[in-house]
Amino acid sequence: MDDIITKTVREMVTDDHRSAAVFEKYAIDFCCNGGTRLVDACSAKGVDPAAVVQDLQQLWTKPDTGVFRPDEWDLDALADFIVNTHHRYVRKSLPLVLPHVDKILSVHGRNHPELEGIAEHFHAVAAELTSHMHREEMVLFPYIKTLVSARNGNAPFQRPPFGSIRHPISMMEAEHRSAGDGLAHIRQASNGFNPPPDACTTYTVTYRELEDFERDLHQHIHLENNILFPKAIALEDSM
Ligand SMILES: [Fe+2]
Ligand SMILES: [Fe+2]
Repeated sequence: MDDIITKTVREMVTDDHRSAAVFEKYAIDFCCNGGTRLVDACSAKGVDPAAVVQDLQQLWTKPDTGVFRPDEWDLDALADFIVNTHHRYVRKSLPLVLPHVDKILSVHGRNHPELEGIAEHFHAVAAELTSHMHREEMVLFPYIKTLVSARNGNAPFQRPPFGSIRHPISMMEAEHRSAGDGLAHIRQASNGFNPPPDACTTYTVTYRELEDFERDLHQHIHLENNILFPKAIALEDSM
C-alpha cells in the first residue's frame, strides 16, 4: 500500500485512466492538483487512504482494454482529440445546461437560495471556458502543432510571439483552477449534486448535467495539465 499512497494522483490516472472514476468517487482532484501524493490528497479530504487503495487495486486487477493511452500519442493528435472530444462537449452542453440552471433558479430559487450561487458560478465558468477554449484553439494548440512539425523536420522552428510556451500555459493552468473551483463550489452548494426531496424533473436533470459537466472537465483538464502541457514544454525546450 505504501508504494501506492506515495504516488501522485496524476501518475495513477496517466498510467490507467480508469483510476479517475475512483478519485471522482472520493472527490479527489486529479487534474488541477494532480501533483499531490495520494496520501496527502486523502488527508485533505478526510478520506481513509486504505479505502481508496482498495478501490484502485480492485479496479486495476480487471483487464484494461488498453485502447485509451493518450500519454503515448503524438501531441498534435492529443490536441485534436481534446478539441474534438472535450471542447465539443462543452460547446454542445452549455446551450442545454445554462437554460436549465436559469429555469430551476427562477422556479425554485425562493425555497432553495443556494441555486443563486450555483447559477452565478456556472455562468462564470461558461463564459470563462468559452474564451479559454478559443485561445487554446487559436494560439496554444497551433503552436504545439508547429513544434511537432519542427521536431519531425517538416518545418523550421520559430520562436512564438509570446516568447516561451510556459507563458500561455501558466495562464491556461490558472484558468483551469478557476473553472475547477467554480464547479467545486457548485458541487458543495448542491450537496454533491443531490437534488432536494421537492425537486422536479428539470431540477434532477440539471444536477445530473452539472455532475457530468464536472466529470468531463476533470478529464479535459487532466489531459492538458498532466500530459499535453508538460510534454509541450519539454518539446519546446529540446528545440
Ligand atoms: Fe481545453
Ligand atoms: Fe484548457
